[in-house]
Amino acid sequence: MDLYQPRQATIEAIVRETPDVKTFHFRVDGEFCYAPGQFFELSIPGAGEAPFSISSAPTGEPVFQSTIRRAGLVTRELHRLLPGATVGVRGPFGRPFPIEQLRGKGLIFIGGGIGFAPLRAPLQYALAHRQDFGPLLVVNGARSVADVLFVEQARAWQQEKEVQVVLTVDPGGEAPGWSGRVGLIPKVVEEMHPSPANAAVLVCGPPIMIKFTLQTLDRLGFTDEQVLTTLEMRMKCGLGKCGRCNIGPIYVCKDGPVFSMQEVKAFVGDF
Ligand SMILES: Cc1cc2nc3c(=O)[nH]c(=O)nc-3n(C[C@H](O)[C@H](O)[C@H](O)COP(=O)(O)OP(=O)(O)OC[C@H]3O[C@@H](n4cnc5c(N)ncnc54)[C@H](O)[C@@H]3O)c2cc1C
Ligand code: FES
Repeated sequence: MDLYQPRQATIEAIVRETPDVKTFHFRVDGEFCYAPGQFFELSIPGAGEAPFSISSAPTGEPVFQSTIRRAGLVTRELHRLLPGATVGVRGPFGRPFPIEQLRGKGLIFIGGGIGFAPLRAPLQYALAHRQDFGPLLVVNGARSVADVLFVEQARAWQQEKEVQVVLTVDPGGEAPGWSGRVGLIPKVVEEMHPSPANAAVLVCGPPIMIKFTLQTLDRLGFTDEQVLTTLEMRMKCGLGKCGRCNIGPIYVCKDGPVFSMQEVKAFVGDF
């Protein structure tokens, strides 16, 4: 397969998540095997190409979902498309979450804003293989009630055995009828005081949220090896060839985008 050559994918369904975020359901012409944590390059003729995380767990079929915020050229065009439209897809690319190392552990998913999108793939995987993992704690935060992703699905996740889901919005972002929490993610994590014993944390969001969440996790006794994140650098090839995404000797597209916090601190220093 030529990894530089986009393949055609059809948009089978579109779900509006928030005013500027939609989840697109794609079906790829031919095989598309991926693991939670990987990403793909999406192209639209005349608009360009951009990388996005896959936000659904693999099903064995050449289908996947991606949860995409309207940001610029490519995403503006994508958000205009309707089911039945086709786009170009390259990938999947990158190092996924180390599912085998996570098996048997309790998992803590901490996502802020669109940062929760890449976490939904390993979360769906853990829910689909419930017996293979310990308790799951999900902390999903956003600036305001209108910006919280996957609210309906969170209700279903919460019904599963030993799964606790906390939705939270920043102070000032609450709205009438909001039954979730009000508070910044690091504070909410502190209040939930998850145990670091036999647990791993998957965290993704804006750098400021990650910085303070790491401080909280540190106070709770988590080590950097227990914390995994997925990085977003500007990318072009997605294959470790063009050098667009490098941080020192690391190519985020090929060596990541999933890294342990221990690895991140080794190549970028402290958050
Ligand atoms: C591995 C990976 C996974 C990603 N997953 C998702 C996802 O699941 N959902 C999602 O909505 N987005 C995701 N992104 C971000 C997405 O690729 C960018 O927002 C992309 O720029 C959108 O393309 P565009 O043409 O619409 O916007 P553009 O026209 O390229 O830019 C929009 C604005 O964002 C700025 N920008 C672009 N890229 C970056 C960057 N890496 N860091 C900071 N600023 C940037 C530009 O300067 C501009 O101001 C991911 C990025 C990476 C690298
Ligand atoms: S995007 Fe080209 S090397 Fe990573």
